[in-house]
Amino acid sequence: MPTHVIILAAGEGKRMKSDLPKVAHTLLGRSLVNWVIESTRPLVPATTVVVVGHGAEHVRSLLPNHIADAHQADQLGTGHAAQIGLDALGAVDPDDTILILYGDTPLLTPELLTDLTDLADGESARLVSTRLDDPSGYGRVVRDERGHVSAIVEHRDCTQDQLELDEVNAGIYAVRAGRLIETLERVDNDNAQGEYYLTDIVGLLVDDGDRLTGVEANSQEVMGINTQDQLAAARKELQRRTNQRFMEDGVVLIDPDRTYIDETVEIGPGATIYPGTHLEGQTRVGEGSRVGPDVYAVDSTIGSNAIVWYAVLREAVVGDGCEVGPYASLRPGTVLEKGAKLGTFVETKNTTMGEGAKANHLSYLGDAVVGARSNIGAGVITVNYDGVKKSQTEIGEDAFIGSDTMLVAPLRVGDRGSTGAGSVITKDVSDDALAIERSDQREIPGYAQRREARKAAKTAED
Ligand code: UD1
Ligand code: CA
Repeated sequence: MPTHVIILAAGEGKRMKSDLPKVAHTLLGRSLVNWVIESTRPLVPATTVVVVGHGAEHVRSLLPNHIADAHQADQLGTGHAAQIGLDALGAVDPDDTILILYGDTPLLTPELLTDLTDLADGESARLVSTRLDDPSGYGRVVRDERGHVSAIVEHRDCTQDQLELDEVNAGIYAVRAGRLIETLERVDNDNAQGEYYLTDIVGLLVDDGDRLTGVEANSQEVMGINTQDQLAAARKELQRRTNQRFMEDGVVLIDPDRTYIDETVEIGPGATIYPGTHLEGQTRVGEGSRVGPDVYAVDSTIGSNAIVWYAVLREAVVGDGCEVGPYASLRPGTVLEKGAKLGTFVETKNTTMGEGAKANHLSYLGDAVVGARSNIGAGVITVNYDGVKKSQTEIGEDAFIGSDTMLVAPLRVGDRGSTGAGSVITKDVSDDALAIERSDQREIPGYAQRREARKAAKTAED
């Protein structure tokens, strides 16, 4: 029987103290609501509807294309939200299973959801409960003398005895569509908060003679995010799980507790990631590479057997066997071909380094193409911006750019061309030529003695 999913995500999340809608906060490059959607993926839902409200436009924009949404203009309660989700599902068979979740529970596992939705013939509903040391604020799960779930009572509607119960409703249910439709329309808002409680369907099902199974989960797994510190705790757990998966795939993590890798990143086996490294977005690392310590890479590709340490990479491509760092900044459009090298305090932008080309120290290379095997000396700068427009620098193969050369673009240095150290080069350099631009060196003999004499005269005056 098909399973449909309704995710309630209309709430505001005031306690986050953030301009973002609560379910739009991200963990490991994926928003809260998308973690929930992801956890249902193994169930292969026929339809998924996300009920949006606060920040509706923003939340909608985060949803994958195959996920539908429905709008709850006023938050009249979880029962009201579930009804809106149900209406948006369209035609369902009464025997279909409907899984109802909240959009702020990113730690759910597919195992729990599979257990929950595995309704037996004739079974109409299951719900997830958990035990809490401090259950205040939660709906309590009330069981009868045989241990069957008989009702959920919201904290503010509990009797003194019910307040003592430590088993709480996690807010996750699997219900046969037909029974959900029949009970939901009987839910009213006659309670302490004046809300339509989804939880009231539990008492109504029991009144109708249905038996409900409570599936107990550990409290971490069903944790809802309401505050920034809960978001950080959830992020830590998801990072632990993600790093575990990388290690199972043969990636060496020197200190997994200090390694931050988005869910979307791919790393080849035998790569070693040192502490303090953040790999984000569509970043790829090839086999056998060594990344870190302290690398921050976003949407970048690192090939195999490369070494990258103490570096920032943004939309950069580092080829096989390249070396980057320590202390290099690779800005968007940087491409290092096989075996190229960028060393200490080198910044690049929109620049290609050909195979085996090197810039080892203290350079800025912007809007440049550097040919294979060329060497860029210490302190070389491509002067690519005249305050109005950006211009290109082209350097041929096997060129040698002397230390502290200013290459005032637009400019081309030919194959095997050289420049003298300290030159300000403003014109093209032919293949095989050396260009030097600096004034002749003068020498003043005996200058030290003249200086000493001036000092002595000054002291006599004082
Ligand atoms: C709910 C349960 C409670 C359970 C607790 C677990 C009810 C009545 N109570 O209480 O038994 O212990 O969750 O966390 O269901 N939402 C909407 N539209 C609304 C109201 C809520 O989309 O009109 C969404 C919220 O965005 C949120 C979720 O539903 O993600 C829970 O709503 P909330 O009002 O916080 O319910 P609780 O009081 O926490
Ligand atoms: Ca809540």
